[in-house]
Amino acid sequence: MRLKDKVCVITGGGSGIGRATALLFAQEGARLVVADKRNAQAVAAECATKGAQAMAVEADVAVAADVRRMIEAAVERFRRLDILVNNAGYGITGSVVETDEEAWDALMAVNVRGVFLCSKYAIPAMERSGGGTIVNTASVVAAVGIGNRAAYCASKGAVAALTRAMAIDHVGAGIRCNAIAPGTIDTPYFNDILKASADPAATRKALAARQLLGRLGTPEEIAAGILFLASDESRFATGTILTLDGGMTAL
Ligand SMILES: NC(=O)c1ccc[n+]([C@@H]2O[C@H](COP(=O)([O-])OP(=O)(O)OC[C@H]3O[C@@H](n4cnc5c(N)ncnc54)[C@H](O)[C@@H]3O)[C@@H](O)[C@H]2O)c1
Repeated sequence: MRLKDKVCVITGGGSGIGRATALLFAQEGARLVVADKRNAQAVAAECATKGAQAMAVEADVAVAADVRRMIEAAVERFRRLDILVNNAGYGITGSVVETDEEAWDALMAVNVRGVFLCSKYAIPAMERSGGGTIVNTASVVAAVGIGNRAAYCASKGAVAALTRAMAIDHVGAGIRCNAIAPGTIDTPYFNDILKASADPAATRKALAARQLLGRLGTPEEIAAGILFLASDESRFATGTILTLDGGMTAL
């Protein structure tokens, strides 16, 4: 019960890493707001079967009005806010030459502006609650380059930088801000990448081989890291980027 009665908002909670995080947090006693553009209701219902108080909010993190409504709904229901997991995000393929302007802007609106907006509206509610923790989902691509993902790499680099900036700005209010940097994780997002490749089986094998451990990570393995950063176990950590990548960046 490492999150007993903590009120947590998890964006992108409808799938993959966000869903695994919501289910783990439910098991740890959290009160949850599962936010997503889709499938939030189903995951909130799964959390409730674990005995958690959980509500779903359909919200687009790139839209300020949605984000304000999401935070207001959390506070109205649970009267406080302790933890924000900024996890909603996605990737697109392409070099800078191949990436069109609209696709770049749309990705930045979710992966970077989304983290900014959710934090902007969550932090005052956390301050009123006496402090809190924020965990952003960055990626190993914030630290090492990978090919054919220019916009995605740029967005996750921005998330890592924003994590450190927020850690400094809000330490006085008792708010810690950290990020998780996953390697290659077997989620619906990852499987979409495979499906788009010429030979999905060969691509899966090649991407698994990128990790020193020779396999893909699971959403549950990343959720375990997010739980650590969200809970008091990490009370000495702020501005940290915690890499969980199966040794990808050790190679
Ligand atoms: N899977 C990986 O290999 C990997 C590696 C490093 C980082 N990440 C990051 O982890 C996070 C979760 O990814 P995942 O692999 O679990 O993907 P996923 O596609 O399984 O889940 C992402 C969820 O975010 C939601 N979402 C997307 N845009 C949104 C928006 N504008 N507003 C609200 N919700 C939105 C989607 O609907 C989806 O439910 C992302 O930020 C991703 O960049 C993933």
